[in-house]
Amino acid sequence: MRKPVIAGNWKLYNSTAEAVKLIDELIPLVSDTALTEIVVAPAFTALSAVKKALADSGIQLAAQDCFWEEEGAYTGEVSPMMLTDVGCSHVLIGHSERRQFFGETDKTVNKKLKAAIAGRLTVIFCIGETLAERESGNTFAVLRRQIAEALTGFSETESDRLIIAYEPVWAIGTGKTASEGQAQETHAFIRQLLSELYSPDMASRIRILYGGSVKADNIGGLMSQPDIDGALVGGASLKAESFAAIVRFAEFQE
Ligand code: PGA
Repeated sequence: MRKPVIAGNWKLYNSTAEAVKLIDELIPLVSDTALTEIVVAPAFTALSAVKKALADSGIQLAAQDCFWEEEGAYTGEVSPMMLTDVGCSHVLIGHSERRQFFGETDKTVNKKLKAAIAGRLTVIFCIGETLAERESGNTFAVLRRQIAEALTGFSETESDRLIIAYEPVWAIGTGKTASEGQAQETHAFIRQLLSELYSPDMASRIRILYGGSVKADNIGGLMSQPDIDGALVGGASLKAESFAAIVRFAEFQE
């Protein structure tokens, strides 16, 4: 009942020409997928060109971040309205790299999340613990704080615009994936928390993606877990073949 989502986070990679080439290669490889939502998140500079290349492929376009104001004297920022204007339907908010390198906090994540949803974008809201937090037994406390603070003021009626991506920081770009059991345990915790904060119905509808070194050879096991509804893929989304292989595993797992 929860449609799987496979989202590719291209981070700070790909010129416009490279981005278009990647999409041109990807489309034929995933054209027979019907059960899985596919999302790609290029850099801001490639959004327009990628939107054009996506044409009527059904693949959806995300930005990697946005600001919380619609307009104003905020040099360097991009608003939700500007993202819908270039054809984005989705936006990543709170990625751990933004928290680590760009001063993103639970408070700024909250502001961005609310603004993006008000701007009619679907938010892929990223959470996850560091290795030190996991090793000190604080994983669930950290996730509880990240979710409770970022979702302050968020209404259950907006749930169809929210996707959560659980990405343990120690698994991002390291080649170390959480085991299927570790990921499932954490996803089940997140769903239970949403049930407490909102309702069992809301919790059962929200898609929770796993992220962190997802590859074609581990997606099958991850997707077989009951609370894992898809993946946010970094490195392996930069090649059409590896990203398409992940999409196809998700598609045929169902
Ligand atoms: P990775 O990145 O797949 O390269 O680990 C995931 C992410 O940062 O979203």
